[in-house]
Amino acid sequence: MSSELSVNHLLGIKYLQKEDIDLIFKTADHFKEVINRPIKKVPSLRDITIANLFFENSTRTRLSFELAEKRLSADVINFSAASSSVKKGETLIDTVNNILSMKVDMVVMRHPNPGAGIFLSKHVNASIINAGDGAHEHPTQALLDSYSIREKLGAVKGKKVVIVGDILHSRVALSNIFALKLQGAEVKVCGPKTLLPKHIESLGVGVEPNLKKALEWCDVANMLRVQNERMEISYFPSTREYIKQFGLNKKILDSLNKEIVIMHPGPINRGVEITSDVADSDHAIILDQVQNGVAIRMAVIYLLAARIKQ
Ligand code: CP
Repeated sequence: MSSELSVNHLLGIKYLQKEDIDLIFKTADHFKEVINRPIKKVPSLRDITIANLFFENSTRTRLSFELAEKRLSADVINFSAASSSVKKGETLIDTVNNILSMKVDMVVMRHPNPGAGIFLSKHVNASIINAGDGAHEHPTQALLDSYSIREKLGAVKGKKVVIVGDILHSRVALSNIFALKLQGAEVKVCGPKTLLPKHIESLGVGVEPNLKKALEWCDVANMLRVQNERMEISYFPSTREYIKQFGLNKKILDSLNKEIVIMHPGPINRGVEITSDVADSDHAIILDQVQNGVAIRMAVIYLLAARIKQ
């Protein structure tokens, strides 16, 4: 296994090789052991400064990155667009170059525009980690999702994963499809036809419009939130209709002749894509996903920092 990443930035899973994912997981295994110790901190990145730039709301990703950085002993500064000079018209490049002039080495950025991280990586002198760019990619989410499947089922290769819901607006879906395919999983998507991107099959995934059949096929179901904030029109007749066809509840789960693993990236719309009794059941690994996010982000930051130091 290679001891370094093939990339200087984490802009999307699309730009990674299978060896990169293997290395990130091996490094995360080590950090997972570290964060379960009484002293959860290592001095690895005492010489690195990281700026977390969030131009869009976040709970899990923002807190998980900040915790990962602090566990690695990096210096951390946090920026929220809502309370910044972006509101006075300052551009993205000006904003970031001003932050970098304070000797910042790495930028973690969430932005509503697809490709914002790619654009930034071409214009500024720092390592960029994409923490979610519009409906494009959310690479660390896909890494922590695959890592959680590996932890629960022993491997990702050969596993059958169905991604259910609003695939069209989901950066989590696209990054997961790239990550799962790269590791040799079989992937299907399930959701209203209006919320499936045209030509989705060209990514090597199957389409199963019937939720029950999709669940009977899979080992893992990743339930996605309907992203109303990215919709300017209605994509299905009503929420009630959506729940009837694509909502996961205990009755459907109990009707399967097998156990499946339930995942959700959060935030959950309880009672819409998943009922509380399923989300809080032993089938669900939703909070394991969140816990693994810290180790995965520590691994990504640590490995990218090693490339900065070269
Ligand atoms: N899964 C995820 O990205 O959640 P947040 O939007 O809360 O960061």
